[in-house]
Amino acid sequence: MTTAPLSNDARAIEELRSKLGGRLTIVGHHYEQEATIQHCDIRGDSLELARRVPGIASDYIVFCGVYFMAESAALLAREGQQVLLPDHSADCVMAQMTPARLLDRVLGRLTASGRKLVPLAYVNTSLAVKAVVGRYGGAVCTSANAEKMMNWAFRQGDGVLFLPDKNLARNTARKLGITGRDTHILDVRKTGEAVDLEAADKAALVLWPGLCAIHARFHPEQIEAVRKADPSCKVIVHPECSPEVVRAADGAGSTTYIIEYVRNAPDGAHIYVGTEINLVERLAREQEGRIRVEALRSSACSNMAKITPEKLRATLEGIVAGNTDPITVPSEDSAPAKASLERMLEACAKFLMLVGGGENLLKKGFPFPNPAIAEPIPSQRVLVVGKTRGGSSVEHISA
Ligand code: 13P
Ligand code: SF4
Repeated sequence: MTTAPLSNDARAIEELRSKLGGRLTIVGHHYEQEATIQHCDIRGDSLELARRVPGIASDYIVFCGVYFMAESAALLAREGQQVLLPDHSADCVMAQMTPARLLDRVLGRLTASGRKLVPLAYVNTSLAVKAVVGRYGGAVCTSANAEKMMNWAFRQGDGVLFLPDKNLARNTARKLGITGRDTHILDVRKTGEAVDLEAADKAALVLWPGLCAIHARFHPEQIEAVRKADPSCKVIVHPECSPEVVRAADGAGSTTYIIEYVRNAPDGAHIYVGTEINLVERLAREQEGRIRVEALRSSACSNMAKITPEKLRATLEGIVAGNTDPITVPSEDSAPAKASLERMLEACAKFLMLVGGGENLLKKGFPFPNPAIAEPIPSQRVLVVGKTRGGSSVEHISA
């Protein structure tokens, strides 16, 4: 395979990266164009990127993605670290569908009766929204852990408000056996005055009426057409697609799920993918000659596309010149927004680690009867670390 010559921007970016060395980490989402993502040290879906940030030690984290992703990174970053987004106008259209003040107002109305309605916010929300969610005892989720987190949220109260993506909510609810009859889609017009409080009160799962315009372009008829042309083909989609599309597909999951599905497919497979076009085309190039990967239809996220190599280069030049415009976190939102993100990271950690007093905890029985101790979620293994004179020792790992 011949590699294309580097553009002027690409060459400059690589020079700036080597100049900055360990002071810089560039992270990027899978929907970024090839010319941008090729410079990223870390690539991932929303969950992986959020998980990786606390482990990054460099002075600068340049985020190739959309605004809410950079905001989450800024929230999880270390003291003194700067998170930079090459274009601050790269905002997720879905995230804009839940203004924080409107959410606060609607939640106030829905819980005025004393109902413990737990908000569960898709990570595609502003930091101000995550702060509102955190104040109401809720958490964040991503497409990779929505099922786990919806389960978590139901265990915290007597109902769940999922926002902003009604499609991800309904696709996740179906997996948990929650039917349309148990759900209610809010009418959030008239600054929240149009909300039907009676209908919302009866529903176990209340939905914000948001969606992703990029994934709304996929329809069941497109799946029907490709299956007609090749009955042996497989179709996989992102769960931001409508429930009708997800039902008609062979599988649905996060961008990482899609990548793994394609990479694990047998030689000769023919797969149609319903998600953002940059990821589909990258997979098609990567798998050329082994399997056929095609877009169910071409659908591009214009906000992800704003992070061009030119802007990435300008951001790195700014760092070298000492002229940066970091993402800032309003101090009043920092703690509650962090709480909502950390609830997700904790609930989805592979291990729940209990440090200190392990011996006593074990004597009390397992699983732990003490409600003050975090309860492990079903897929989580519990690691009990006890303190010894010499330091600490692992006392128990649950199966
Ligand atoms: P993932 O978390 O699956 O990468 O999705 C993020 C996103 O914005 C999809 O539109
Ligand atoms: Fe937001 Fe949709 Fe773009 Fe994802 S693809 S960043 S949900 S607008």
